[in-house]
Amino acid sequence: MTNEALKELLNDLSLEEKVGQLIQVSADTLVEGGIVTGPTGSLELNAEQVALVGSVLGKAGAKALREIQDKQMAAQPHHIPMLFMYDVINGFQTIFPIALGLGATFSPEMVETVAEVSAKEATASGLHVTFSPMVDTVRDARWGRVMESTGEDPYLNGLLAKAWIKGYQGNDNDVRKEGKIAACFKHFAAYGAPEGGRDYDNVELSERTLREDYLPGYQACIEAGCKMGMTSFNTINRIPSSGNKWLMRDVLRDEMKFDGIMISDYSAVEEMIKHSFAKDPRDAAKLAMDAGVDIDMVSRAYVQHLAKLVRDGEVDEKLVDEAVWRVLVLKNELGLFENPYKDGDEEKEKLITLCEEFRTKAKEVAAGSFVLVQNKEEILPLAKKEKIAVIGPYAMSHDLHGSWSFPNNPELQISVEQGVKELLGSDADVTFCQGSYCMDPEEQTKYGVKEERTGARCEENEAFYAKEEAWLEEAVSAAAKADKVVMCLGEHNLHTGEGASKVDIRLSDCQMTLLRKVQEVNKNIVTLIFTGRPLELREVEKYSKAVMVVWLPGTEGGSAIAEVLYGAMRPQGRLPMSFPVSVGQEPIYYNHFMTGRPNDTGRRVGYISGYIDETCKPLHPFGYGLTYGKVTYSKVTLSSEKMTSTASLTASVTVTNEGVHPATETVQLYLRDVTGSVIRPVRALKGVKKVDLMPGESKEVAFEITEPMLRFYDINMNYVSEAGEEIAYIGSDAETENGASFTFEG
Ligand code: GLC
Repeated sequence: MTNEALKELLNDLSLEEKVGQLIQVSADTLVEGGIVTGPTGSLELNAEQVALVGSVLGKAGAKALREIQDKQMAAQPHHIPMLFMYDVINGFQTIFPIALGLGATFSPEMVETVAEVSAKEATASGLHVTFSPMVDTVRDARWGRVMESTGEDPYLNGLLAKAWIKGYQGNDNDVRKEGKIAACFKHFAAYGAPEGGRDYDNVELSERTLREDYLPGYQACIEAGCKMGMTSFNTINRIPSSGNKWLMRDVLRDEMKFDGIMISDYSAVEEMIKHSFAKDPRDAAKLAMDAGVDIDMVSRAYVQHLAKLVRDGEVDEKLVDEAVWRVLVLKNELGLFENPYKDGDEEKEKLITLCEEFRTKAKEVAAGSFVLVQNKEEILPLAKKEKIAVIGPYAMSHDLHGSWSFPNNPELQISVEQGVKELLGSDADVTFCQGSYCMDPEEQTKYGVKEERTGARCEENEAFYAKEEAWLEEAVSAAAKADKVVMCLGEHNLHTGEGASKVDIRLSDCQMTLLRKVQEVNKNIVTLIFTGRPLELREVEKYSKAVMVVWLPGTEGGSAIAEVLYGAMRPQGRLPMSFPVSVGQEPIYYNHFMTGRPNDTGRRVGYISGYIDETCKPLHPFGYGLTYGKVTYSKVTLSSEKMTSTASLTASVTVTNEGVHPATETVQLYLRDVTGSVIRPVRALKGVKKVDLMPGESKEVAFEITEPMLRFYDINMNYVSEAGEEIAYIGSDAETENGASFTFEG
């Protein structure tokens, strides 16, 4: 439809029709089934209001969505097509590693692949918009949704955000094209910084920290052409984002130049009442429209009060028209006025869902996400002739997906057992034992899901306790006979995601008991950690010779794990978040500040910053990860010791693989601004390059350092660079001391 025709349509709409375009309902309002991703409760809609809604979330399927579209359009006076939106976060039917694992790839190419495949499967199932990417910076492992982020660093988040958008929307952002889907950056803004790691809680950030560390991910999405954005549940400066005019209009619209749709998060508009910011749903509707929320996701505010607010002269209809215009523009960009079903096609849906090509990509990305954090005596890779015992609640599990992986069928996911058997064939000498439950008796998931033996041991649950004792005995026996043991341990896959914050980030007692008992009979232990967050791994590492974090690896997790364990693929992931020694250190992140009494030794006493009962260093820093090779770095060389705004300089190293196995090394560039008009972080990631190195091979890796890389919000809140001393570090993680100084002359 031409813009002129679209404008005519807008002008032709009644006020009720306009309001309808700004309403999003969950699928169960219209049809049976669909996913519910927030508090349920009736929106008290009458038939006319239902007929006019402009979009729905949580339902997929080419046939089902065609039927909904036909029914809704027939009921609409102007037959305006609906938008179908869904949380396609790390894959749709083919499930990829959780986003934190994708962050661990440090690979925009892999993230783009994930987005491309997700968009193809989702649009074949009739979907138009995905509520992805989530680009919130996250520095607190207690928060449940850390699994959905790409971690603690603004630069890495921004780098991967661009790749998400490119994969979802295509190079030209022409989302009308087949297999392309409209993306939605979220959650604007700084949802990942709630106090105490408690989901939805207050966010207290200075404006400088907000701009410096939390806005870059959203900005990267906007610059990449992202079509939609979502407000966050939290407050900024004690004002809920959905009602925050400064954040939504001054910053987002005027400064960041975003002109796409802003949708609220699920019932977030009405929740401003509980925030004590809105008096009632009518007041919430007014505050949200004034702030610039276009679509109200699943709340009564707009649908019950917006039209009347306009008629009462309390809301300018011009604001409503602007919001409706953005909605109509996206529908037009998707081509829905010409083809309301877009790519929805039952035949194609069947043909491409979980096809071999997508499964192969899922395996490659999963392998790329694994982070080897310990490999004593080079116990890995395993040899096929070795007698192996694979033990633990994740040894035979098919639940290798994180939350936000809805339509998948776990039975279609490759378990570790399946992966190892497929790789080695039937002549392999590998046994598989459950060993223990995943959760302790008193634990439960965010949905209240418990395992069989819950609560203190008693007559009713005696059989389950006895079963676990038998598992333990079987596992210890198998371990005693094996050359090596592969422990498959981790947090329950529903202990992560929305509403799943935790104060205890250790493995469950039952799993630690299993590990200790196995270690008594066999010291050759490789431990795989399945997790949606950084965990306390100090004791796990004490009892293991090798530890590899495999996150929640998705559909092909078991096959990727098998190939990496036996060296057919190689571990190349790096930690996208610092792993703490203790949860008491949280939030802990690498680009912290010196303080006036810096703790640069990890010491625990004296007049220095730190703790008297624990180090303030992480167990493993951001960017850390081992390869099967032995990669060494030369000293950093600089093309010059001086740099100006117009004359960049080059920092380079030579990396060499002195090991016997090929390696993929993730070379990282960090810059430190030694003095500023405000304090500066000890360093900040500014470049990442991955290089493949065969045994004995050396390669030069060079980074160009340019003036924009030195910019920050100065004492006057101007985003500028300042003359002075800089240090360029190039190494394999955020704690590298391999650096060289230079002077930026301004
Ligand atoms: C949820 C989440 C958001 C998601 C939305 C729709 O509450 O906060 O990330 O996209 O609702 O499911």
